[in-house]
Amino acid sequence: MDFVHNPPDASALMMSARSFGNYDLAAALADLIDNSITAKAKRIEIRCLFNDGDPEVRVIDDGLGMDEAALHLAMRPASSNPIADRSPDDLGRFGWGMKSASFSQCKRLTVISNTAAGTFGARWDLDDIDEFRMGVLSDLDLSETSSTEITERFGTEIIWQNCDRLSEAGQISHQHFNQVVSHARSRLALIFHKFLSGEVHGKKLAIRMNGTPIEAADPFYRAHNATQAIPVEPLKVGDQNVEISPFILPHFSKLKLTDHERLGGEEGFLRNQGFYVYRNHRLIIHGTWFRLAKYGELSQLVRIGVDIPNTLDDMWKITIDKSDAQLPAALRNRLKQIVDGLKGKSSRVFRSKGGKIDQPGTVSVWNRYARQGEVRYEINREHPLISQLLKTVDGEGQDFARAAIKAIEQTFPVAAFGNDAVKDMDSLNQTEADPGRFIELLEAAVPSMLIEADGSFNDLAELLRSTDPFASNWPLVQSYLEKKGWFDEQP
Ligand SMILES: Nc1ncnc2c1ncn2[C@@H]1O[C@H](COP(=O)(O)OP(=O)(O)O)[C@@H](O)[C@H]1O
Ligand SMILES: [Mg+2]
Repeated sequence: MDFVHNPPDASALMMSARSFGNYDLAAALADLIDNSITAKAKRIEIRCLFNDGDPEVRVIDDGLGMDEAALHLAMRPASSNPIADRSPDDLGRFGWGMKSASFSQCKRLTVISNTAAGTFGARWDLDDIDEFRMGVLSDLDLSETSSTEITERFGTEIIWQNCDRLSEAGQISHQHFNQVVSHARSRLALIFHKFLSGEVHGKKLAIRMNGTPIEAADPFYRAHNATQAIPVEPLKVGDQNVEISPFILPHFSKLKLTDHERLGGEEGFLRNQGFYVYRNHRLIIHGTWFRLAKYGELSQLVRIGVDIPNTLDDMWKITIDKSDAQLPAALRNRLKQIVDGLKGKSSRVFRSKGGKIDQPGTVSVWNRYARQGEVRYEINREHPLISQLLKTVDGEGQDFARAAIKAIEQTFPVAAFGNDAVKDMDSLNQTEADPGRFIELLEAAVPSMLIEADGSFNDLAELLRSTDPFASNWPLVQSYLEKKGWFDEQP
């Protein structure tokens, strides 16, 4: 057999590398941060400049850096073999991360590294890459291109220019650009929360974005005293440990609106329930049940941390952009058991919220009467919402309203309810599981509650605090009133 040299066309290969993975700005930055962490950086500075619609991004770390040979190797596509063993702290895998992440956003990637051996720089420009010609920066180029930080201390600077993807081919508005950047900030706060909070090897990583530190966003809200941590034994996969840490988040009524926005994210609690998979402490995938359970209203407070070492990459089928992983078959059954147990715990959190009765100091919607061995539930006509309802209508309307309330009481589905409760108490879902809809109820109630309170906002707060369902959801109600400027905490 004869052999001929048959390499890929440089430009065509690199253009297709632009679509490896599913990077958005956050995921692309995360891949650079992975490299900085592996290089033992303690501080990372991210700068995203709008630059009149021709954005430029810089990521500067104070890590070990690369000498010239290391830099040239690092610039090479597929710079390492994915099946090679990686050091246990290494967040890389395919030797593509820096390149594919960068080209997902820009066409010109410059990497500058300052080390004890000197300062070196190299550049790929997708518009000028025939035969894989790579630019090597001269001293003059370096001084013109690098930021002052990198001239002052050791570390690495990554520069993205000609950001055609990020700028949406120059169409992006300044406002939209700011949104994209702020979205990336909150994603990074989540992805690297364990590093930012100093949980990894007891060392705190500082990441600043456009001058402001990124604060850790703990998806389990471990700092809140109503969060339940459920202890579970680590699972063994081969000789490797996979740590499982389930949490039941506090019911929304115990959260402030701002906490709620942060924990629910853009997609809300419902979409963010499920597994949170960390590879070497870095969040790679979240809000999935791996088809072990359904997304349910009652399980929306369940979040399960799963910590895997990079030695199990193969089994989890980690993708190039580290955005996806598959649950190894060896773990399915055990995780399914854990999940089933947790769903009951989560729905109990909701149940404990619903329709409290005979609470001292609280006006409830339902009253319970027990006489001579007979129990009867009645709607409380004195409840401010009910009494306002009856007051707003008169004559025939009032008769109708009274009849409707009687009909509701008399047709209370006792048998069906009793049946369900005996079969599976945890499946009963009578209370609101969505804070948005709860706030709607609150907003609808406020005008009539304000009338009951004779127009005084102070009295309104007191009334809500002692009237269900607002009383049993007080922290949420309070933060709503505060946001409206209707509530001052009295000392
Ligand atoms: N910020 C950095 N500091 C030091 N070395 C880096 C940095 N970024 C990248 N490198 C080097 O470049 C190599 C290639 O990075 P990358 O393309 O992300 O692939 P991988 O992380 O899978 O090895 C890394 O293995 C590392 O040696
Ligand atoms: Mg990498």
